[in-house]
Amino acid sequence: MASLRNLLWTIGVASVAVASSDDKLKSCLQYALTDSGRVAFSGDFLYQSTAVNAYNLNIPITPAAVTFPTSSQQVSAIVKCAADNGYHVQPKSGGHSYGNYGLGGVDGAVVVDLKNLNQFSMDSTNWEATIGSGTLLGDVTQRLHDAGGRAMSHGTCPQVGSGGHFTIGGLGPTSRQFGAALDHILEVEVVLANSSIVRASDTQNQDIFWAIKGAASGFGIVTEYKVRTEPEPGTAVKYEYSLKVGTTEQRASLFKQWQAYVSDPDLTWKMASTLTLAEDSLIITGTFFGTEEEYKALDIGSQFPGTNGSAIVFEDWLGLVADWAEEAFLELGGGVPAHFYSKSNSWTAKNLMSEATIDKLFEYIDSTDQGTLIWFLLFDFQGGYTSTIASDATAYAHRDVLIWLQLYTINLLGPVSETQIDFLEGVNKIVTNYEVPFAAYPGYVDPLMPNGAEAYWGSNLPRLRQIKEEIDPDNVFRNPQSPTPAE
Ligand SMILES: Cc1cc2nc3c(=O)[nH]c(=O)nc-3n(C[C@H](O)[C@H](O)[C@H](O)COP(=O)(O)OP(=O)(O)OC[C@H]3O[C@@H](n4cnc5c(N)ncnc54)[C@H](O)[C@@H]3O)c2cc1C
Ligand SMILES: *[C@@H]1O[C@H](CO)[C@@H](O)[C@H](O)[C@H]1NC(C)=O
Ligand SMILES: *[C@@H]1O[C@H](CO)[C@@H](O)[C@H](O)[C@H]1NC(C)=O
Repeated sequence: MASLRNLLWTIGVASVAVASSDDKLKSCLQYALTDSGRVAFSGDFLYQSTAVNAYNLNIPITPAAVTFPTSSQQVSAIVKCAADNGYHVQPKSGGHSYGNYGLGGVDGAVVVDLKNLNQFSMDSTNWEATIGSGTLLGDVTQRLHDAGGRAMSHGTCPQVGSGGHFTIGGLGPTSRQFGAALDHILEVEVVLANSSIVRASDTQNQDIFWAIKGAASGFGIVTEYKVRTEPEPGTAVKYEYSLKVGTTEQRASLFKQWQAYVSDPDLTWKMASTLTLAEDSLIITGTFFGTEEEYKALDIGSQFPGTNGSAIVFEDWLGLVADWAEEAFLELGGGVPAHFYSKSNSWTAKNLMSEATIDKLFEYIDSTDQGTLIWFLLFDFQGGYTSTIASDATAYAHRDVLIWLQLYTINLLGPVSETQIDFLEGVNKIVTNYEVPFAAYPGYVDPLMPNGAEAYWGSNLPRLRQIKEEIDPDNVFRNPQSPTPAE
């Protein structure tokens, strides 16, 4: 582990000295983008601040070039320039990868920034929407609303891009009801490694479609989605039960109560819930998609004794979505680049933490140097609709996860310290059940994890590597943890 860390951090430092890009690549890209669009090259004046804009400052990165195409044809021409000249390619949508994978994840990629591909249309005969893959989630919400009061599942950070989010999972407050964002996808237009532009769905290019739904970054550049939409949820109640400070035992006991509550298989799919542990607080927040009367009848407060409870009723969808975006964690990290490190972990209904493990977790948190005051452990309740789909139906494999854990540490002053990383790793070691294969969320990339692809795609990895061998044997589309071609 130590050597991997050094590797990652050294790559970042070394990147400052990268030489300017190959001349052939330059003239090819300039030609491809003559009519419209833009390209910037490593070595250009203000390259980092006007073209690269890395999100995770802890991983400094210098792509060979950043391109801003305006059409699928230009995306195709860019992929051809890169592949012909031996460069690897990554598309960037919202740029919110924890590992800066939209910039390639390591130096020297040709980046395809999709921000100009933000077309939108709604077919009001079947409520299927067409969405450009450069569209950010905040705009997805607004446009679906404007086009007839429609909605789809996705996460709560408005600055995340649909390009990296719909293709990796896309979990949010409505995904217990409607599925993950990728479960909404009916068809995509995608640019492949040989630069052909194809459409993929359940009836054409099925293997590509399967891989795109969970692992797209290694398989092609989605330029456009066609998605099913749902009517916006009506009335909803946003609740919060919090415990300030509290003793180690109080917090452990509250956690046990929350875990018991969300692991009731009869709990309605209309209930979303997240338990957040942070410095000096334990907060249970969530949204119930129903009326105030229905909410009161559930009597959640009695499940979480000793907490301060509150609830707000929302009648309008946009107001609710805006409120989600104001959660403390997103306020700190949502829109602005920062130095941070993150990991993930998970439980199914069959391997939940025992009471003894929960006690150990809280003792560890309270007796360990966290290296910062800004750390979060977010336990997200999943299950519901997403668990009704077979694990091999899409590349996204972790259908049986009931609770996702996201571990997050931030340093506002500079690079994340070893102490901060050690703290998160210590938590992960305590809570992981080594009898089942380790499952990490592919959307919360952890560049320090040695077996990333296994942890992200689990039992679907062999088939992914087979498809990779067929459609991208030279590994043109790659980041440090994407599936490699089968041997
Ligand atoms: C503040 C914050 C909050 C988050 N909240 C949630 C949440 O609530 N739920 C959740 O599920 N996740 C959440 N995430 C994780 C998020 O879904 C992933 O980081 C996602 O991959 C980011 O997508 P992006 O387009 O913004 O990032 P990018 O860095 O642009 O892309 C991420 C990866 O996807 C690839 N990619 C981008 N566009 C395309 C495309 N068109 N075709 C093929 N591959 C593409 C990139 O090459 C890269 O490998 C959150 C992340 C952050 C930073
Ligand atoms: C509830 O809120 C009050 C007032 O803000 C605070 O003093 C108290 O510590 C809180 N109690 C809990 C359990 O968090
Ligand atoms: C490009 O690759 C796809 C997928 O392997 C293949 O179906 C198609 O025929 C290829 N196109 C060309 C022009 O080689």
